Amino acid sequence: MPQYNMRLTPEQTAILEGAKGETMAKIMKTLVMYGETFGATHLEPVTGSMGHLVTSFGLGVMKPVYELMDTLIKEGCVSSQQFTVDPKPIDPKVPAGPIEKLIFKKFMYSAQRSYDDQLAKLGLLSDAAYTCACYFDEVGNTPRQGDVLSWAESSAVVYANSVLGARCNRNSGIIDLFGSIAGVVPCFGLLTDEGRKASWVVEVRTTKKPEAQILGSAIGMRVMEDVPYIRGLDRWLGGELNDDVRAYLKDFGAATASNGAVGLYHIENLTPEAREKGDDLIREDAQVYVIDDAELQRIKAAYPVIWKNPDAKPRLCFVGCPHLSYAQLTEWTMAVYNSLRAMGKTRVAIPTVFTAPPAVIERFNASEYAEKLKATGVILSYICPLMYMNNPLCGKKPVVTNSNKLRTYTSARYCTDEEILSLIVKGVN
Ligand code: F3S
Repeated sequence: MPQYNMRLTPEQTAILEGAKGETMAKIMKTLVMYGETFGATHLEPVTGSMGHLVTSFGLGVMKPVYELMDTLIKEGCVSSQQFTVDPKPIDPKVPAGPIEKLIFKKFMYSAQRSYDDQLAKLGLLSDAAYTCACYFDEVGNTPRQGDVLSWAESSAVVYANSVLGARCNRNSGIIDLFGSIAGVVPCFGLLTDEGRKASWVVEVRTTKKPEAQILGSAIGMRVMEDVPYIRGLDRWLGGELNDDVRAYLKDFGAATASNGAVGLYHIENLTPEAREKGDDLIREDAQVYVIDDAELQRIKAAYPVIWKNPDAKPRLCFVGCPHLSYAQLTEWTMAVYNSLRAMGKTRVAIPTVFTAPPAVIERFNASEYAEKLKATGVILSYICPLMYMNNPLCGKKPVVTNSNKLRTYTSARYCTDEEILSLIVKGVN
């Protein structure tokens, strides 16, 4: 057996040597080699009650993944814990032209159904477990502080680390599954106390509550994969992690993770570790980044508009990347409903899709808000807008969104919440 630098228990060594079969040995070897690359000291047991997988889409071209899944199932190497998974890529309710529909079904996501079957056999929690916001109460995959996780979805990892105080690295797809199967993950980076220290202090000195998605974008682009310690934001958010604050931090975190590669942030007087340890979380040589109104304006103005015709009227709007919480969904519903009524209108001027986890949609559909949203013409869906837009035809479509993650990875144009509301109600800003 090759010599590894990390400490392995006798049981882990036995698995590497084939005690639980060839496939399990390969899974363990992959985790060990992955850990060695990042200087891991040992393998840490996964303690979170559930896993979360990032690969939810049945792209026809991912044949090696499907073969791998078949082997895992055949050899009985299924997940030692149940897992949730990122949102599905398509939903018949979301507007798409006939050519787009053909491309989605016949070419792009032709393996969706069989991949869904594989996920179910490997340990998927349920048919309703497709969402990136798996930590919402309605979904039920909410880690506790200190839990060690085997996740990869960047928006979920940054939320779990920062808001919940769990421990997880920014792993890749398949590594997340292997960690869940083996029940261990390599210990390095954000799993260690040292790796959770901040090498940036961000001073928020704005004159009003910053737009979560722009603040996150600014910090992500500056600190990249480092850990920021953010001062001055509690002035706007308060010191309690209530529903509104958690929703703000979800959107903020997703922007830090996609515009940069942040896996953990601390917010003074607010997030769990910052409340416990305060300035002890800051490295001595930490750099400082000051954010004021002008800096946020500069960041937003620098986003490129890559539509074919930058002055085109938007043809589609997405709100909910990451997926909306129940509270966000009801707030958006009332905002659209009331704005339309105030203008003497009933239906939105631009085809608009709100996206949320299936379990949140179920709760919403049983509420008094469902009829109101239906009346506005807004579509409520469980999809991932990024997967929906991930095709050449969508690149030509003028799409607007309030998600900085969607802006980063697609041709969608970013607008603030206020701009989005005005656009979908009036059709123009
Ligand atoms: Fe979630 Fe898809 Fe956005 S996974 S964060 S809705 S890109």
